[in-house]
Amino acid sequence: MNYKNAILKLKKEKNAILLAHFYQIPEIQNIADYVGDSLGLAQKASEANVDIIVFAGVHFMAETAKILNPGTKVLLPDLEAGCSLADSAPLDEFLAFKANYPDYIVVSYINTTAAIKTVSDVICTSGNAVQIVDSFPKDQKIIFAPDRNLGGYVNRVTGRNMVLWNGACEVHDILTVESIIKLKEENPEAKLIAHPECQAPILELADFVGSTTGLLKYTHQSNSKKFIVATETGILHQMRKDSPDKEFLIVPTNETCSCNDCPYMKLNTMEKLYLALKNEQPEIIMEPAVMKKAKKPIDKMLDISRKMKLI
Ligand code: 13P
Ligand code: SF4
Repeated sequence: MNYKNAILKLKKEKNAILLAHFYQIPEIQNIADYVGDSLGLAQKASEANVDIIVFAGVHFMAETAKILNPGTKVLLPDLEAGCSLADSAPLDEFLAFKANYPDYIVVSYINTTAAIKTVSDVICTSGNAVQIVDSFPKDQKIIFAPDRNLGGYVNRVTGRNMVLWNGACEVHDILTVESIIKLKEENPEAKLIAHPECQAPILELADFVGSTTGLLKYTHQSNSKKFIVATETGILHQMRKDSPDKEFLIVPTNETCSCNDCPYMKLNTMEKLYLALKNEQPEIIMEPAVMKKAKKPIDKMLDISRKMKLI
């Protein structure tokens, strides 16, 4: 079956839009109406004026799309497409932790469940975390959840001392500084670019740290011809498309697994995408009260981002 043509036809017939994250397989990225990072995807979802949003990404992203556009049917081709960061912060454990810090506000990374968003003051993404945190007075006490690597990075950049929830992304957290140093020695002319979900020693070595959109823009604008890319492999597709004359080296994990492929992002396939559009299932269904409460901190993030011209 020609899934590409079938998906494009269904998309038109059903007045649907396909939003895809940069970590999706190239075939999906190639037919998406928009490919982006979490911030760009949230913004597109909030503005979409369609009957159906098909989200080629992971659960928290589709959930965010539903919260921002509650009147639209949101489909996720595989409901098992979760996220280790979102899973690392169960609501009951997080509330117990939060109770230790009564006068703190909560800044949550968008990679969280809607339940965590309902108890957060503002959401951030890797594309705006520094600016969101810096929109608060320097003496504001802050809990940052759930990514200890991103939180630590923001602490270093802003000179703050936010309390960090101890979560991590299973894909970025296993990249080692040793393998990067080896690659740098073999390719001394290459620039090292890293996603802020990587561990501190990698971020400290990096020439540039940013969200997937930020990394892509950097490779496009840089005069350098070679890059060591410390993030998930999916982003290489757009980097190669955007800059065909440049070389991109992915940080190796080990010989037996492609551990820097996100196992959740890669659950989406062309077949599942086709079936989702055909059957209008699996659909993201949420409790209206949860959606309403979770929307507040996301709207706050979008407002700050607009004011700062980040979107
Ligand atoms: P970005 O918002 O930078 O695309 O990151 C999303 C993500 O899940 C990274 O692992
Ligand atoms: Fe979650 Fe990591 Fe996968 Fe991103 S790469 S969706 S943070 S598990």
